[in-house]
Amino acid sequence: MTSSPTSILSTIMGLLSDGAYHSGRTLGEALGMSRAAIWKHIQQLNQLGVAITSVPSKGYALVTPCILLDKQTILRDLKAHYHIDHDAITIYDQVTSTQEVARSAPNTPSLGFHLAEHQSQGRGRFGRSWYSPWGSNIYLSFAWSVDRDISELSGLSLILSLALIKALQAAGVTELGVKWPNDLIWHDKKLGGILVEMDAVSYSHTRMVIGIGINVNTPEHAHNFIPRAFTSLQHILGRPQDRNSIAAHMIYYLTQDLTKFLAQGLSAFLPEWQQYDVLYGKPITITSGKQKHTGIMHGINAQGQLLLKQADGQISKHSAGETSLAGMYTTHP
Ligand code: BTN
Repeated sequence: MTSSPTSILSTIMGLLSDGAYHSGRTLGEALGMSRAAIWKHIQQLNQLGVAITSVPSKGYALVTPCILLDKQTILRDLKAHYHIDHDAITIYDQVTSTQEVARSAPNTPSLGFHLAEHQSQGRGRFGRSWYSPWGSNIYLSFAWSVDRDISELSGLSLILSLALIKALQAAGVTELGVKWPNDLIWHDKKLGGILVEMDAVSYSHTRMVIGIGINVNTPEHAHNFIPRAFTSLQHILGRPQDRNSIAAHMIYYLTQDLTKFLAQGLSAFLPEWQQYDVLYGKPITITSGKQKHTGIMHGINAQGQLLLKQADGQISKHSAGETSLAGMYTTHP
């Protein structure tokens, strides 16, 4: 795992964040390095997915102005609703995956949230990679230890997506939906995903590492790296978004809903789930390993299992797998 809280790259991004042109000489003076060294770092940022234009007489400029992740801003945005320890948020410049950072962080009584500007080995579900361009999206992970058996936590991954819906609604997004178990959907396109990695520490104790990726200011060229149709908050809301305020909403609603889940279980969330379930009543396929089942999605049960009405009228229950609906995710916006 590699992680660096601040680096030359984030200093350069900070200087470029206003969207104006900055010459190689001014950047070099600010960082105490040569123009050639600045050029190399600009190339590196390009390779990490940051679109930077360069005009010989003017210098370098970001194609889209960028607000860097900032712990103080997140804490300030959170403060109005919720008190969180200063140490509960850590921001990294570059990591392999925030999942690894959260996994190796010491256990603390309250949740510790880890965010990064870039992941070199971002992971999605089913062993897929998660494209993580620098300074564009939210990559957030946290570890959660609970005195519950793993079997009692089956609905957890569903309620995480409901917390994120509330966070994104607070940021002004409407028409959001969830695709079982926890994809965030907007108009049939994926806006974000959740990875839940659970370890049964004992019969009555489970440790989880929960990771969330939200497409915020995803660059246009991401289409070359993401095979399925996706959307971003910038695309939906028509302008670049400040990730700090979105992260604050996420932390607030995640904390609220995890507490509610422990006290009341999935049943307290079922009406909310029904409101956002984009698959309900639709013909779907659920794939788990080599097995595929098709039928009409019939909602979920109290354990969070997907109910599938098959051609013979029988209802089958599914605890894991990937759901697909004809027409969803197949085209780019
Ligand atoms: C999915 O496949 O839908 C789940 C994607 C989860 C991506 C997030 S980004 C933060 C955390 N770190 C990772 O490597 N993965 C998760």
